[in-house]
Amino acid sequence: MDVKTIIEKMTLEEKAAFCAGKDFWHLGGIEEFHIPETMVTDGPHGLRKQAREADHLGLNESVKAVCFPAGCALACSFDPELAREMGAELGKLAQAEDVSVVLGPAMNIKRSPLCGRNFEYYSEDPLLSARMAAGAVKGTQSQDVGTSPKHFLANNQEYYRMSSNSVVDEQTMREIYLASFEEMVKEAKPWTIMCSYNRVNGTYACENQEYLTDVLRDEWGFDGYVMTDWGALDDPVESLKAGLDLGMPGPMPDNAKRIVDAVKDGSLDEGVIDTAVERILNIVLKYVENHKKDAAYDFEAGHETARRIETESAVLLKNEDGILPLQEKENVLFIGEYAKKPRYQGGGSSHINPWKISSVWDEIGTMEHVSWTQGYTDSSRDHNGEAYLREAVELAKKADKAVIFCGLPEIYETEGVDRKKLDMPENQNTLIRAVSEVQPNTIVVLHNGSAVTMPWIDSVKAVLELYLGGEASGLAAADLLYGKANPSGRLAETFPLRLEDTPTYPYYGVEKDDIPYREGRLVGYRYYNTVRKPVLYPFGHGLSYTTFGYADLRLDKIEMTDGDELTVTVDVTNTGKTAGKEVVQLYVQNPSLHEVRPLRELRGFRKIFLEPGETKKVEFRLRKRAFAEWNPSMHDWFVPAGCYHIEICANAQEVLLEV
Ligand code: BGC
Repeated sequence: MDVKTIIEKMTLEEKAAFCAGKDFWHLGGIEEFHIPETMVTDGPHGLRKQAREADHLGLNESVKAVCFPAGCALACSFDPELAREMGAELGKLAQAEDVSVVLGPAMNIKRSPLCGRNFEYYSEDPLLSARMAAGAVKGTQSQDVGTSPKHFLANNQEYYRMSSNSVVDEQTMREIYLASFEEMVKEAKPWTIMCSYNRVNGTYACENQEYLTDVLRDEWGFDGYVMTDWGALDDPVESLKAGLDLGMPGPMPDNAKRIVDAVKDGSLDEGVIDTAVERILNIVLKYVENHKKDAAYDFEAGHETARRIETESAVLLKNEDGILPLQEKENVLFIGEYAKKPRYQGGGSSHINPWKISSVWDEIGTMEHVSWTQGYTDSSRDHNGEAYLREAVELAKKADKAVIFCGLPEIYETEGVDRKKLDMPENQNTLIRAVSEVQPNTIVVLHNGSAVTMPWIDSVKAVLELYLGGEASGLAAADLLYGKANPSGRLAETFPLRLEDTPTYPYYGVEKDDIPYREGRLVGYRYYNTVRKPVLYPFGHGLSYTTFGYADLRLDKIEMTDGDELTVTVDVTNTGKTAGKEVVQLYVQNPSLHEVRPLRELRGFRKIFLEPGETKKVEFRLRKRAFAEWNPSMHDWFVPAGCYHIEICANAQEVLLEV
């Protein structure tokens, strides 16, 4: 029976109840038409399937699942193909666990490094964010399981996340916050979208017709269903009218009744609810008809994939004198709790019950020349801080090299709470300083979900940023530290020198009702570059154990109109002795006209593998949008006439070649 016929046979009450969810994680079934209840569950970097008595804070245990690198790490791979692979793993486990939609990817823009949920999100740059998300969506959906990219829209802080009002001008909204979703929606066609708790320019995201209908559906062609974030529904009738389809979690008998009453008193057209039911049913049937009942999940293979993804995502931030990779014959002292108990995921609704956790010590602890000491503790109840520190310093004096595993404790970054500072715990900073004073070959390995300050940066030789690298992050760390793998991650966000330098510093986390996005489009590197502010490490930065040379940047035309396509090619050569991957980054430098426009913007990137001595020609095709800005008077994309520089860059600040 087709969906329209089913809807014709449903009563108004049944339809209203269907749009209000069945329970915490389920949509209702329709027995008469043999449509079963279907489950949706978190995401985004592993499956968090809880038993029926669910609580979304993650207090109840969920099924074992492979915990993949969180969005903060994955994005640094600059490789949408890896995101696709990770998405496919999620889809496979979802099939085995009979989950119809995985709630993710989480893809809000990192407007401030203080956002408590940045560890789940990808980037400060909308192009990178959209492309990584598109990969993840395609991967999961390739397994006939839906996705729910979230949280639509302008949900960039945790402070008062359920009620705050993001006040964003039209141009900023289009170029930064909508752009992060746009290419993903158009390219990857997600089955659903999750709208956020907050208000957007005065109207709750769930009731916002402009974004849910005019932009998402009419402009971008989204044809799935929109569901609320958990508990975000305020007015069920207004939401339906605006383009929302499903309120979660269920059951919401009061909401269903309000919908029925509204149809009866003529304030809601029954056709609106029919449309919502149709959109939901289309997706439910797409899942049910393709559900693989005997699907089984290969956890060992998933763990290996998690390891590979993290290996390609970790970012080598500093490597003075080629101190890394370590040699097996060197006496290396490993310091820190995270070497044995890595911090590999964040807190909140994305908290995975990991299948197994591999630490770096599991991998290298049996090697002949390595030793370990505690160094610090991230438990506030442990009073041995001084003793740990003294022991670490004494042992470090005798080693050839010291590797300190440190970062942010979980309570520092979690859903629902923003950070107050960018600093790591003082006991860790003190430890790094003390060890590097006696040991010139000190290496720091970081575990954190967002940028941190590094007051000790000049006294250490190397820094490897693992981010929150998933359950196999220790294996990836071992491979990278000992040179079995060559680092190829690049920062998907800027690391500022100090909190005071960040674009939103004066007002982020201060206001709780109206949140004006005063910095406009100058988010992340767009700000630091434009106002010429030095940073600790720029967006796009990352080192390798080999070197790359760039030559022969060519454009197929140097004059064009906004209807033309520009082909750009550049030759990239591995000029070192180690095979490795390079992220080729193309930015467009905008003409300096009368108004403030970001100095340069990422318009293309490609990750390539090169053997030593090998050269590859990399091609980019740029269309209108690579040059356009949103014109608020025209309400459209517009390319101001002028001279644009095509730049191939090492990162957002360092231009290698330009035309
Ligand atoms: C989070 C969502 C999550 C949902 C269900 C909400 O609190 O914001 O990202 O998908 O809970 O757990």
